[in-house]
Amino acid sequence: MRGNGVGPRTAGTAGAGGSGREALRLSAVTKVYEGAGQPVTALDGVSLSLATGTFTSVMGPSGSGKSTLLQCAAGLDRPTAGRVLVGGDELPGGGEAELTRFRRSRIGFVFQDYNLVPYLTVAQNVALPQRLAGRRSRRGDVAAVLDRLGIGELAGRQPAELSGGQQQRVAIARALVSRPAVLFADEPTGALDTASGRQVLALLRESVEQFGQTVVMVTHDPVAAAYAGRVLFLADGALVDELPDPDAAEVARRMARLDAGAAGTGSGSGSDGNAEAVHVGSQAVA
Ligand SMILES: Nc1ncnc2c1ncn2[C@@H]1O[C@H](COP(=O)(O)OP(=O)(O)OP(=O)(O)O)[C@@H](O)[C@H]1O
Ligand SMILES: [Mg+2]
Repeated sequence: MRGNGVGPRTAGTAGAGGSGREALRLSAVTKVYEGAGQPVTALDGVSLSLATGTFTSVMGPSGSGKSTLLQCAAGLDRPTAGRVLVGGDELPGGGEAELTRFRRSRIGFVFQDYNLVPYLTVAQNVALPQRLAGRRSRRGDVAAVLDRLGIGELAGRQPAELSGGQQQRVAIARALVSRPAVLFADEPTGALDTASGRQVLALLRESVEQFGQTVVMVTHDPVAAAYAGRVLFLADGALVDELPDPDAAEVARRMARLDAGAAGTGSGSGSDGNAEAVHVGSQAVA
């Protein structure tokens, strides 16, 4: 996987003169996986800046680096090069324990397959990150977040007694309860039927609009992507396009163009115009 050699670009909204404190900044983040075979450059100098209270979708062909981007931004993995700042603070360079502490206090993560602990109740699952962080679990916080997400009546149930959509709402509650600087979600509706998926997306958007949460979501679904205020497009480990105020049809058109590029040489002929759009983003952040 290679970038197209245009160099690092910055996309985003922070510092553009809006309300914006910066929730997330990536500067020239590169990730190379060294395996048994050829090293794989999964991220190739990605720079972006997202203001607090924004909802951003990340799209791109399979293998374009979306999950790698989320994992590096969320401190679940370390970039090979470049910097990641969450809520203005750089991911700590120390050991795994330090990184884990940082994640627990700053970051929420929602996975496609929920990742709930099967033998704990809903309330216990939501309280778990706080308990692991050694903080007294504040019963009121857990109840409040469950109520807010419309699942207060499920507090005493176990995950196996819930639908997929309910389990994902519990996972979102668990991610939100520590009031993270950024909530990351990797295909949070990927395992859900359409109606449950829409509920989860509406919840994420509400958390942004009503509570100023910052959300970054990877998705393959143009309709899901259009719930966000902005869509960033990745190809070959680089940001190649962005779309503010997205509508699903336009997202689908741009994805089709990228998929065509991914199926061919890896750099579509229409990419110059796209690169310009991202460059405009970088001016706004400068
Ligand atoms: N742990 C790993 N070791 C080696 N290569 C990896 C690893 N994880 C990902 N890759 C490679 O890095 C590239 C980007 O992978 P990534 O999972 O970030 O893509 P993605 O955009 O999330 O794809 P998908 O849409 O299929 O989930 C791919 O070429 C992938 O094979
Ligand atoms: Mg992925």
